[in-house]
Amino acid sequence: MKLKIALAAAAVAIFGVGAAVAAGEPQAVRQEMMKQVGGALGALGAIAKGEKPYDAAVVQASLTKLSEVGKAFPDQFPAGSETGMDTEASPKIWENMADFKAKSAALASAADTQLAAMPADQAGVGAAMKAIGGTCGDCHQTYRLKK
Ligand code: HEC
Repeated sequence: MKLKIALAAAAVAIFGVGAAVAAGEPQAVRQEMMKQVGGALGALGAIAKGEKPYDAAVVQASLTKLSEVGKAFPDQFPAGSETGMDTEASPKIWENMADFKAKSAALASAADTQLAAMPADQAGVGAAMKAIGGTCGDCHQTYRLKK
């Protein structure tokens, strides 16, 4: 999977050579993916709130990131990665993998819908955020441990 390799490489680049081994672990890859969706949603939020001017390139890149992570995220939960590296992944993920995958697909599909429509102004970005934001909490509620 190309994206996975690219993300792992990005993680290595971010964490530096010393942490290269740890960064390749699925726990680290998926946490990095979630940091990236957090950043992408934050970038949309800044535009929606008017803290940043509307920028089509930023909107498109953020929506693309949300879509990509929604598609690749469930691949980062192989057997054996249930614990370790301060993971906040709930054991319920491995008990309900099909539902977990569906919740991740819901994020990808919400982002794809917004990409196809491409929000054209601040209000449009606000509406897009509302449409996508619910999918985050919907998954976290069940599958992310509160620490
Ligand atoms: C399909 C389920 C799912 C969806 C959808 C999802 N998340 Fe997560 N998220 C998780 C899980 C599981 C973790 C814990 C991962 C770990 O620690 O191994 C997590 C962790 C995080 C973290 C902490 C990352 C870290 O370790 O620093 C952030 C931030 C985050 N999610 C933001 C978001 C945002 C924003 C969205 C929506 C755009 C979103 N998530 C959508 C399941 C999901």
